Amino acid sequence: MMTLRISLNSKNVLSLMDLTTIEINHILKLASSFKTDLRTQKSPRQLPGSILGMLFEKPSTRTRISFETGMFQLGGKPIYLGINDLQLSRGESIEDTARTLSLYVDCIVARINHHDILEKLALFATIPVINGLSNSFHPCQILADLLTIYERKKKLEGLKLAWIGDGNNVCNDMLLGCSKVGINMSVACPKGYEPMGYVIELAKQEGRQTNAEIIITDDPKSAAKFADIIVTDTFISMGTDDEKHTREAAFLPKYQVNSNLMMLAKKECIFMHCLPATRGKEVTSDVIDGGASVVWDEAENRLHVQKALMYLLLKD
Ligand code: CP
Ligand code: NVA
Repeated sequence: MMTLRISLNSKNVLSLMDLTTIEINHILKLASSFKTDLRTQKSPRQLPGSILGMLFEKPSTRTRISFETGMFQLGGKPIYLGINDLQLSRGESIEDTARTLSLYVDCIVARINHHDILEKLALFATIPVINGLSNSFHPCQILADLLTIYERKKKLEGLKLAWIGDGNNVCNDMLLGCSKVGINMSVACPKGYEPMGYVIELAKQEGRQTNAEIIITDDPKSAAKFADIIVTDTFISMGTDDEKHTREAAFLPKYQVNSNLMMLAKKECIFMHCLPATRGKEVTSDVIDGGASVVWDEAENRLHVQKALMYLLLKD
């Protein structure tokens, strides 16, 4: 197994703002090496005895299971902490929860709805905190997506990624990730569903260093034209169920990824989705279940990038 002698600058990974381009590239290389080790049955236990606290306020399939499995594979132990089982649900403060967890576990992965509460958790914890999705960001997903893109395209710099649909939590971190590694990104979304303004500005700033062009438009066709990668996500993120009808009216049919939209992209264009997906809404079945789709690679790569991230945060 290749040993990388780097440490992350930040104690926490709450969004890709916390990682530099060099750190992102290190995580991808280490993840790739962990992936090879696992496939060749050489899976050294890099974090024996480490304990991961998993604080979850929302449901999860991929994030929960890949973090749990990943920590087991590294030789440590995960502890799942559903928020309703903690005194937090009866009014204990997030500050005191952070202080308490820091006494018992070595690292926290938290899926907390409000990003400002997650920031408070990280501020009062004395151990690393990883964002397992908040209403604003989903950094682990984008690390897995960048690894997937690299595996398929053998490069990152200079590619064109089109994000079609909701400028949501996943899109915010995709903007940060793409701009940091030099991928041109066009976001096509209806007015009122754009990514966060300060994230767009940060991505444009990063893009000036890496030659990544960042475009926000309401035209999915121009975004998809000559794209190497087309990405979408659900129109109804967790916490927005009561907006279902308004959202579907805003997004459909114009922002659905279907074969007509895919035809505008490059011939070898890949389709990505973080999952869970709603077939027939943000993407048609023929696209997500077709030859261009790499959604299962994305899901698998969650395991490998998160193992790399935990290793780099905890190895010392
Ligand atoms: N993509 C993702 O984070 O999936 P889960 O909600 O199942 O964790
Ligand atoms: N945007 C989605 C992603 C789910 C992994 C949500 O927040 O529900």
